[in-house]
Amino acid sequence: MATKKSPSKKPAAKKVAPADDAALSAPPPGPGIENPPVEEPTAPVAPPPPKPSQGSPETVTPTGAPTGAPPESKAQQGEYLTTAQGARLRSTDHALKAGPRGPVLLQDHHLREKITHFDHERIPERVVHARGTGAHGVFVANGRAEKICRAAFLKKGVETDVFVRFSTVAGFRGSSDTVRDTRGFATKFYTSEGNYDLVGNNIPVFFIQEGIKFPDIVHAVKPEPDREIPQAQSAHDTFWDFVSLHTEAQAHVAWSMSDRAIPLSYRMMEGFGIHTFRLINEAGETSLVKFHWKPKQGIHSQVWEETQMTAGNDPDFHRRDLYDAIDAGAFPSYDLGVQVMPDSDDETFEGIDLLDPTKIVPEELCPVEIIGTMTLNRRPTNFFAEVEQVMFNPGNLVPGIDITNDPLLQVRLFSYIDTQITRLGGPNFSQIPINRAHCPVNDMFRDGFHQHAVHGGVAPYRPNSLDGGNPAVADDDSGAFIDVPQRVEGAKVRELSESFDDHFSQATLFVRSLTDVERQHLTRAYVFELGKCYEESIRVRQLQCLANIDADLCAEVAKALGLPAPEPTVPPAADVEPSPALSQIRGTWPVTGRKIALIVDADTEPAAITAAKDAVMAAGMLPFVTAPHGGKLGDVVVDRTFLTAASIEFDAAVVVEAPAPAPDAEPTFDAKAGHSTSGKPVDPRVVKMLGEMFRHCKAIAVTPGATAVLEAAGIPADAAGVVAEEPAAAVAELAKLLATHRVWERFPTAKPTAKE
Ligand code: HEM
Repeated sequence: MATKKSPSKKPAAKKVAPADDAALSAPPPGPGIENPPVEEPTAPVAPPPPKPSQGSPETVTPTGAPTGAPPESKAQQGEYLTTAQGARLRSTDHALKAGPRGPVLLQDHHLREKITHFDHERIPERVVHARGTGAHGVFVANGRAEKICRAAFLKKGVETDVFVRFSTVAGFRGSSDTVRDTRGFATKFYTSEGNYDLVGNNIPVFFIQEGIKFPDIVHAVKPEPDREIPQAQSAHDTFWDFVSLHTEAQAHVAWSMSDRAIPLSYRMMEGFGIHTFRLINEAGETSLVKFHWKPKQGIHSQVWEETQMTAGNDPDFHRRDLYDAIDAGAFPSYDLGVQVMPDSDDETFEGIDLLDPTKIVPEELCPVEIIGTMTLNRRPTNFFAEVEQVMFNPGNLVPGIDITNDPLLQVRLFSYIDTQITRLGGPNFSQIPINRAHCPVNDMFRDGFHQHAVHGGVAPYRPNSLDGGNPAVADDDSGAFIDVPQRVEGAKVRELSESFDDHFSQATLFVRSLTDVERQHLTRAYVFELGKCYEESIRVRQLQCLANIDADLCAEVAKALGLPAPEPTVPPAADVEPSPALSQIRGTWPVTGRKIALIVDADTEPAAITAAKDAVMAAGMLPFVTAPHGGKLGDVVVDRTFLTAASIEFDAAVVVEAPAPAPDAEPTFDAKAGHSTSGKPVDPRVVKMLGEMFRHCKAIAVTPGATAVLEAAGIPADAAGVVAEEPAAAVAELAKLLATHRVWERFPTAKPTAKE
């Protein structure tokens, strides 16, 4: 059965179009209504409609029944300001006082209600993954999973609403998006058989093999408890102290030191379910699978300097990027795939223990089969109501998908519900609109804080006769959840299977599968992070782990740290076959939604700017007119000024005209304005921006008349990825260059093939 919602109750969702076919609109609109007036409006008006790119959960009761209220009633911006009880108010600017200069009166019910509510606006942030960003979308199954899984949402052609939340792990809710960290990739599928949550990360292995150690790894990576620093960083002593002692973390640490931990965009990130799950088909046959999300935009990362600049320049970088792309109609999409393995008695595949969450199964050994595609096509209407209040739980399963005995997964099944009782204020968090299932719910749970349902009936227990025995239990034919019968035996022990003992070979596999550029980035990340630790003993201990992973890597890191490279205590695995699928520098990708700075001068012909803009948009990319001052140039709206623009915002630049130094290009204003030492007649902010883009291996195009900017920025005109053409031809060249994401040849060790 399809899981599509009735269209009558919610604003029409945007048509789902593959990202590369979507009609793009120009850079994002302002936050409010279109063309808000300069004067304060005072006459009552109807609430503004939601923007076309926004979505929100339906206005229905917790059990799914219609409330009778019109859909727009959820927007608390009606014609007149009221109290929480609905009484219209004359003023909310002044408290009741005993005379205009007198004390405030306790009897002011509106004042007390307003301030009391404000006092309680905050809820606890998530213990982990506190910083996140969410979007609505739709998942369409291609039917290839039908042979292995009976879940309704995986049947061919079924469309299922989804809500995705991307996150960092370590940082607080207000921390920066672009820190070095694992990213969460949690998806809630609102299926016709109940909510299914795939709560994964962008790194396919985990730090720990057992859930009982989760508080330890989290306490180690979080800010140190005495001074509460550093924020959202793993580059500190307690993290490296833990992972160097707790060697099962080493595979995850290798991934964390790679470019995977500094993604450019949530649109360009893989996702992994990590654990092995058990699928059941219509015939009751089972198989073991690992889930993968493959972004259609390709996998792409920032370079380290970019992440640091971005953290200061735009801490909301990933959030903005996702919402800008959705606003523009460049909908991100991801294929969902599975690695399917036999459900054998020993639950291993090619010698890999499938219950060990610190191990992957290389795609070369077991290919990923695509079973559907998700497109994110609406951003939230209210961030708190949706992104902050959404709850995920790996135990939210549907018939056809079951868990395995992975000792990490088993503990997760307990942890999520438990934490949400505190975070969301009681046991009724499943009734919050974003969490509510889109199918009938008859759980017979009653009461509790924030109970929103008005349950009928007199017999919320089973068995009963007073409600006619209602609700009945289901069976296989009526879609009951399937707990796969699994034999369980063994003595009660606090131990782990010996097959989990290998802590290094998968780190070796990962390191040896990287291209030279990626490997150089990895080496420098280890050097940076260990260099930030105070204690030399921790560096020495981690070098020992690196010696057990890869001798060359260990030697390079040791040299940079000024320490001797130790001999391995466990020799690195000799027979590791590199997995090219683990490298992210491969293939070409659609350029839809990539951001291009169009650099112009104050007197550049508007027609030339429009032509360049059109060329960028025709290629499916987003142009940002970047000029010496704001406002308009002719009829062209300026999107960024030299003061507000930063190189990290853009994937590439087209210099339409070399801009002369603008009047505000004064070094006394900021260092940025005084950056140029070339003495060339080009605005120094543009020189700085292009210099950074060149260093970060981004493509740069200049029109033939604008080559002075290259000279001013010290960029060789014949360097890789530098194009001197008229705008239309230049944009075509840029699009080709951007298809591989960066100009890899500019990196000193460039060699975009997996290391042999
Ligand atoms: C494979 C291992 C794991 C993965 C992929 C993972 C992934 C995630 C993700 C993506 C989130 C954020 C969900 C959201 O956006 O709201 C999250 C939150 C959380 N995780 Fe995990 N996690 C893992 C292991 C664990 C373990 C072992 C525990 C505890 C024993 C745990 C406890 C939590 C808690 C308490 C939250 C906060 C949930 C909330 O407040 O709603 N996680 N995890």
